[in-house]
Parts: sequence; structure tokens; C-alpha cells
Amino acid sequence: MSQDLADVVNEWTGLEEEYQHLQDTHKRYLQKLDEISKLQNNCSSSIARQRKKLKELSRQIKKKKLSQEDANTLAEIKDKLKTRQNVFTEMEAFLPKKNGLYLSLVLGNVNVTLLSKQSKFAYKDEYEKFKLYLTVILLLLSFICYGFVSYRFLDAILNFLLVWFYCTLTIRESILITNGSRIKGWWVFHHYISAFLSGVMLTWPDGNLYKMFRGQFLAYCLYQSFVQCLQYYYQSGCLYRLRTLGERHNMDLTVEGFQSWMWKGLTFLLPFLFFGHFWQLFNGLCLFRMARLPDCKEWQVLVCGLCFLILFMGNFFTTLAVVRQKSKKRNQKSKSL
Ligand code: COA
Repeated sequence: MSQDLADVVNEWTGLEEEYQHLQDTHKRYLQKLDEISKLQNNCSSSIARQRKKLKELSRQIKKKKLSQEDANTLAEIKDKLKTRQNVFTEMEAFLPKKNGLYLSLVLGNVNVTLLSKQSKFAYKDEYEKFKLYLTVILLLLSFICYGFVSYRFLDAILNFLLVWFYCTLTIRESILITNGSRIKGWWVFHHYISAFLSGVMLTWPDGNLYKMFRGQFLAYCLYQSFVQCLQYYYQSGCLYRLRTLGERHNMDLTVEGFQSWMWKGLTFLLPFLFFGHFWQLFNGLCLFRMARLPDCKEWQVLVCGLCFLILFMGNFFTTLAVVRQKSKKRNQKSKSL
């Protein structure tokens, strides 16, 4: 055998051995996947069974008339029943579950549950980054439309991008909620309304009324993108600190440290947010005034006005509720220290 052929045969034998090893590893991997999916089914059905039985048990407990001693034992059981429900919810965060109506419609019945804490954090991190990149693009585009180019086609591109952005957010947020995020329903609803509003702006014909409102709308888009950038730094800061809290053994961060950082960030952000909310109210009122003009023929004026008003009310009251809830928690913490 020539030297050249011997080299080839040697190489091939090495590759063959590695290939055999790869096949074994892949076979083991498939077996483990099978095991995991069986374990997932076991856990899910066991949780469902336990939930059903717990429900029946709490119904029975309510009907019972007991002596003082028995009542104490029962109170203990009741306490445990409550904590058990929370444990089940935590367990379910790491088990595949059926998609809600919206995700089933958009994605079909594909599993969107992320099975580890790291992948949940990574998905949220990527969601925040996606929002930031798109927001910067929107900021630049609205700046160009506002200051340099007054061309309806470019406005249409901006509005189309807004529609796409908000629709994508609704999908990503539904996936986040499936994975245990506590995003309030209003913020998701806010994105549906914003997508609808941008869609209506897209169809508004290029008449006198559109020209009257255009500058104000573009300036508002600019401001909103600016506020969303600030929001990104706040929210990704919260995420980063929460993650380091979860891995606290090697990080110098305490729960109080996190709370005080969050409070400082929030108080910095709030004036900008409230200013944005009142700008939404102002937009709504301006559009209602325009709708009363005799030459106003476009339905878009009234519909956009209504959308701005709903956005104002939802944003303003939800933000107030969030601040109240956070300040209550903060006061309780400082009292208990
Ligand atoms: N959009 C998407 N997700 C949001 C959100 C928003 N506007 N506000 C809060 N969340 C998410 C948080 O990231 C968190 O998610 P997690 O459970 O996965 O960690 C969850 O909802 C709970 O957040 P919460 O603790 O209630 O609030 P926060 O401290 O993260 O943020 C505010 C508080 C007030 C800063 C935030 O709600 C906000 O920016 N609101 C104003 C938005 C607005 O008005 N925009 C228009 C500007 S013109």
C-alpha cells in the first residue's frame, strides 16, 4: 500500500471511530428525550389529578362542623392547601403547556415553554434588546420624517414599521407570559391598541387634516421612542440585578440593594412617562377638536382620537397602580426592618 493511501485509510478509520461514538451519543440523547417527555407527561397529569382532589377536599372542608381541636388541625391543612397551589404553579413553569388562544392562532400548537431559568432570562433579555434596536430605528425614522423629509410614502413606512413592531411584541409577550412573566394585561392590550392606531394612521389619506396633525404625531413618536430607550435601561437593569440576585453566592447584591436601585430608577423615569401620557391625552383632545371641523370627512380622525384617549387612561392609571403597589411594598419592608 502506498504511503498516500495509508494516510487516507488512517484518517478514515479515525473518522469511523468518531462516527460510531457520535451515533451512540445521539442514541442516548434520543432515549433521554423520550424519558424527559414521559416525565413531563407524568408530572403534568399528576399535578392535574392533585389539583382536582385538592379542590374536592377544600369543598368538603367548608361543609364540616368541628370541635375547637379539630378546627385547629383543619386550619393547618387549609394553610398547606394554599401553599401547595403555589408550588404547583412553580412546577408548571418548567413543564410544557397548551398555548392560549392568541398563540394557538398565530403559532399553532407548538411548545413555547422554556425549560430552564437561564433560557427564560435569555429570552427576556433578547426581547428587551429587540425592543431597543427597533426603538432606535423608529427614533431615527421619525426624526427624519419630522425634520427633513415630508413625504407621505416615508410616513407610511414608519407607520407600517410601528404596526409590525407592536404585533411582534404581542407575540413575544404572550410567550413571556407562558414562561411565568408577570407582565400586566394592560401592557399587552396597549400593544394591540397601538398596532391598531398605527394601522389607522397608515390608511389616513394625505389631506389638509393629515398635514395638520402630522407634525404633532411625528414629534410624539420621537418622544415615545426616547422614553422607550430610557425604559430599556431601567428594565434591563432590573433584569440584570434579578439574575445576579438569583446567583447571589458570588455576587455582591442584596434584596434591599435591588429594591433601592429599582426605586431610584423608577422615580427618575416617572416624570418622562407621565409627560408622555399627557401628550397622549393632548393628541386625543386635538383629534376630537379636528373631528368637529366642518371639512372633516375622514373617519380616521375620530378613531385615532379614541385610541389616544384609551391609551392615556390605561397607561396613566396602570402606571399609578404600579407605583402605588411598589411604594406600599417599600414601606412595608422599611417598617419590618
Ligand atoms: N411593557 C412590557 N413589559 C412590561 C411593561 C411594559 N410597559 N411594564 C412592566 N413590564 C414587565 C416587567 O418587565 C416585568 O416582567 P417580568 O415579570 O418578566 O420580570 C413585569 O412586567 C412586572 O413589572 P412591574 O414590576 O410591574 O414593573 P416594572 O418595575 O418592570 O416597570 C414601569 C414599571 C412603570 C417602569 C413600567 O411598567 C413602564 O414603563 N410603564 C409605562 C409604559 C408607558 O406608559 N409607555 C408609554 C410612554 S409614552
